[in-house]
Amino acid sequence: MTPAILFVCLGNICRSPLAEAALRAEAERAGLDVLVDSAGTSDWHVDCPPDARAIRQAQRHGIDISTYRGRQVSAADFHRFTHIFALDGENLKNLRRIRPADGTARLALLMDMVPGCEGRGVTDPYYGDEAGFAQTWDDVTRAARAIVAAFGTIRQ
Ligand code: 4NP
Repeated sequence: MTPAILFVCLGNICRSPLAEAALRAEAERAGLDVLVDSAGTSDWHVDCPPDARAIRQAQRHGIDISTYRGRQVSAADFHRFTHIFALDGENLKNLRRIRPADGTARLALLMDMVPGCEGRGVTDPYYGDEAGFAQTWDDVTRAARAIVAAFGTIRQ
């Protein structure tokens, strides 16, 4: 069964699209077959492209995310995905709230995948400057590498 991984932040225009891009890149590099997507707990940016600063950050790493579009996470995602990773604790709390009783996806905090970073959220760069997006990229890349490395053990 092909693993299917969903990254969830608040707006789906900053952190989770970068996490999606990072995992796509790392999985491709490793030759791993995995489905990857991202969504937001809010509906504020549905159908919107990622934040221009996120697009620029991915572009610096040779990845085009300008065609990504925002969407809101739904109950169906807990059946469609094998793993759902929240970018921070607040979003994890909201995901637990909307998780259907029969949902099959494993739900976890993204940085729990990175040794030494357990329990830590990826800081929201939306109200900050360009440097915050570089920090986001570092975080999601470390997590993406950990996901790829841990694949054998997180596979259901
Ligand atoms: P994200 O960042 O959750 O990483 O996509 C945000 C994007 C938009 C807003 C907040 C956070 N907002 O308030 O619109």
